Amino acid sequence: MRSKPIPGPTADLFAEDSSQQSAGSEQMGEQSYVLRGYALPWVERLLPELRHVLAQSPFRKMVTPGGFTMSAALSSCGELGWSTDRTGYRYTPLDPDSQQPWPVLPDSMRQLAVAAAAEAGFALFEPDTCLINRYVPGAKMSLHQDKNERDYAAPVVSVSLGLPAVFLFGGHLRTDKTQKVLLLHGDVVVWGGVDRLRFHGVLPIKEGVHPQIGPQRINLTFRMAG
Ligand code: SIN
Ligand code: FE2
Repeated sequence: MRSKPIPGPTADLFAEDSSQQSAGSEQMGEQSYVLRGYALPWVERLLPELRHVLAQSPFRKMVTPGGFTMSAALSSCGELGWSTDRTGYRYTPLDPDSQQPWPVLPDSMRQLAVAAAAEAGFALFEPDTCLINRYVPGAKMSLHQDKNERDYAAPVVSVSLGLPAVFLFGGHLRTDKTQKVLLLHGDVVVWGGVDRLRFHGVLPIKEGVHPQIGPQRINLTFRMAG
């Protein structure tokens, strides 16, 4: 696949016109890529399906085991959904708020995730869960590893919609140096294989209004959890 190195730490990530979507891909690590604008052809079909999901399982604030309320609001769809409370992080078949199964993973979302995984070299990706994160300006995601899935053979596929974000992609130690990657509406990040357990996070979202998504960023992360 076509790839170019991402800008070094000295490059000004905000210098480019963020309304300009560049195509192609950038390699972040041995088995991790940013696929620029990859989700754009899916967005029109995906948004009504996402709205339908959120009508069944609305965004909610969750508390970490350490007692902190996350600044991003969360929901899920698929056979399993991720949640956290004072007793731990887990995947469950039922939405703990409604006690109903999580909404079905819509076709458009599944197809996008499968295609993006294949584009990044991960064939046979069959996600059983999509975590939906909503960031309003100021919201962030601290550095963490995705470790609640049963096996790490499958990659994580992450779709960015709405306001831009600076994604931090670190190493296998929390203290490892991080790459800063500006993610725009429609960008997809895939990390797996030797990069599957790398620390990652999101810097606080800047104020703004996205023409299609409004004053927020929505992130979809697809995984094989069960
Ligand atoms: C996550 O790591 O769960 C979310 C990453 C993102 O919002 O880009
Ligand atoms: Fe994550």
